[in-house]
Amino acid sequence: MYKLIAFDAYGTLFDVYSIGQLAEELFPGNGQALALMWRDRQIEYTRLVTMSDPNPAGSKHYLPFWDITILSLRYVCKRMALTLTPEYEERLMGQYAKLTAFEDSLSVLKTIKELNKSTAILSNGSKEMLATVVNSGGLAPYLDRLLTVEEVRLFKTAPQVYELLLKAFSVQKQDILFVSSNAWDALAAKWFGVDVFWVNRLAHPFEEIGERPNYEGRSLSEIVAIL
Ligand code: LAC
Repeated sequence: MYKLIAFDAYGTLFDVYSIGQLAEELFPGNGQALALMWRDRQIEYTRLVTMSDPNPAGSKHYLPFWDITILSLRYVCKRMALTLTPEYEERLMGQYAKLTAFEDSLSVLKTIKELNKSTAILSNGSKEMLATVVNSGGLAPYLDRLLTVEEVRLFKTAPQVYELLLKAFSVQKQDILFVSSNAWDALAAKWFGVDVFWVNRLAHPFEEIGERPNYEGRSLSEIVAIL
């Protein structure tokens, strides 16, 4: 029934675990905490930028996700009193640029294309960041579009971001299945009005506000059964 399957990028198709591993190598005993705080601060900055000027023509505070990611890393290192040398920064950001795809990302995308459905990434990520990670993971041939917030200069969870799906493909909301491992992203897409599949790899509880996702699974592969 779905014509378009759209995926979030970070944590959904691409595994961010290696960031924590490298952070632990660079800052022994602090890697996991740093990786978690870094991710939180990164998303916090995207929301700050978006909510402080939610102009449909774009926020005047907009910065590319790559810059936001560097700045949030710098903040968190200061906050944790860790010395982030230029070399460490380059290594951590380098790791971000070449994250590996989850083991089932490629096969799931292939199967969806075999079913003649459209595929896309819808991400906060900058165009270049996404292109790099998609190419290095070999996913490019199975993704019809890489949609990024760069086009609207507002981050998730602004509805204008999810609307990019309707602008890029000739589909209606009911034709779309949005897939994310971030519960907040899944919830916002649901609020926008599309069906969602929440990839809950870590068996976390879903958000307490809003509506439940239409589907929930422990891995991406479980999507195939509902197509
Ligand atoms: C993204 C972040 C939210 O790819 O994971 O949009």
